[in-house]
Amino acid sequence: MKRKVQVGIIGAGPAGLLLAHLLRHAGIEALVLDSRSRDDIESTIRAGVLEQWTVDLLICLGLGERLKQEAHIHDGITLRFKRGSHHLDFPELTDGKRVTVYAQHEVLKDLIAALPGDIVRFGVKDVSLHALDTARPVIRTADGEIECDFIAGCDGFHGPSRKAIPASVIKTYEAVYPFGWLGILAEAPPSHHELIYARHERGFALLSTRSPSVQRLYIQCDPKDDPAQWSDDRIWSELHQRLETDDSWSLTEGRIFQKNIVSMRSFVCETMRWGRLFLAGDAAHIVPPPGAKGLNLAAADVVVLSQAIAGWYRDPGTDLLDRYAATCLDRIWKGERFSWYMTTMLHRNDAEEDFVRRIHMADLDYLIGSHAAQQSLAENYVGLPMDFSAALAGDARG
Ligand code: FAD
Ligand code: PHB
Repeated sequence: MKRKVQVGIIGAGPAGLLLAHLLRHAGIEALVLDSRSRDDIESTIRAGVLEQWTVDLLICLGLGERLKQEAHIHDGITLRFKRGSHHLDFPELTDGKRVTVYAQHEVLKDLIAALPGDIVRFGVKDVSLHALDTARPVIRTADGEIECDFIAGCDGFHGPSRKAIPASVIKTYEAVYPFGWLGILAEAPPSHHELIYARHERGFALLSTRSPSVQRLYIQCDPKDDPAQWSDDRIWSELHQRLETDDSWSLTEGRIFQKNIVSMRSFVCETMRWGRLFLAGDAAHIVPPPGAKGLNLAAADVVVLSQAIAGWYRDPGTDLLDRYAATCLDRIWKGERFSWYMTTMLHRNDAEEDFVRRIHMADLDYLIGSHAAQQSLAENYVGLPMDFSAALAGDARG
């Protein structure tokens, strides 16, 4: 089977699906291909925190109805260390901004449900990319060929898109951390009204939430651990020790019904364009999750990309496509910096020198005593300014 489409999108994650919506909004035809089943995509547990502008964008695209009903708006986070709790009040620190806790797979369900059925193809095998440095790049799959004007590589860190760029032109940067997170879902009411990020001698812990009856918690662990090594008793014991305080706060336990381990890396591929291929989201960059930035950075990339593609259809001479990588990388590196800062400040790292460990403790002490430092953390956490109005105005039919 042979087919033509204006934009072929590889990957039905947040980047690929949001790009399909933005292009549709601009009157541009896109086709999204994913190797996984719809069921798998809609049930994989990942991110939780959405920046305010990401929520605003989803609402402007008409994708926010369920989110408005079911998501939790958080006015801040709590930092916990040395058995003390320190609340950061985001609206006060950022001129009124907040964050929204709404699971990534719920966002994906909303994005998929709002696209016509023929725009997303699930379970597509043997995806490969060809003729990228020509005007008619091609995606080949087990079912046939798709000829495109552009290909968007939104296929995550392990997908084929980045690998299709010649090694001689790729420029990458990477840091791998010697720890990971064991994430659990537990049937329990919330133990706290906002997220708690805890630094402890035994390692980091994070208390997050999913719904009034389901809580999401993370424990720093060895990335090579097997979740089976973590009995429910061991998990609760570690969480109690790492989260406990000198006041009367207590952690509410419940039945654990999901356990998984994620490793942590920082990664940037500065070559985000090769001919007619454009990388977006985790295909081009990875952040460790303590900054809650990955999904939001993926969304920012595709805002820029949709605008640049719509600009090209209006006037093929436009240089927005040429500026795509530079525009995105400015935000990406700030997201990388913030995620690295949160990760290194909050985790126990036995490979670090004692001196560096004391610097991280001093960072935390400074933070709780300085309004300016709190403002800096808060403005990054809620999301640096992002103007998506041009992407929403970008009608390619002009
Ligand atoms: P992905 O979500 O990885 O999507 C890529 C898609 O491409 C997948 O559906 C995959 O099946 C498909 N694909 C791969 N290979 C192929 C192929 N060969 N052919 C076809 N399709 C293919 N981010 C936040 O912003 N806030 C948070 O709170 C947050 N918390 C996190 C917590 C954890 C534990 C983890 C692991 C991540 C977290 N993130 C968070 C990061 C966020 O989940 C990712 O950054 C986000 O999923 C990136 O979206 P994406 O669309 O670029 O890639
Ligand atoms: C989550 O709820 O999954 C979550 C929250 C905050 C993070 C990372 C993940 O920093």
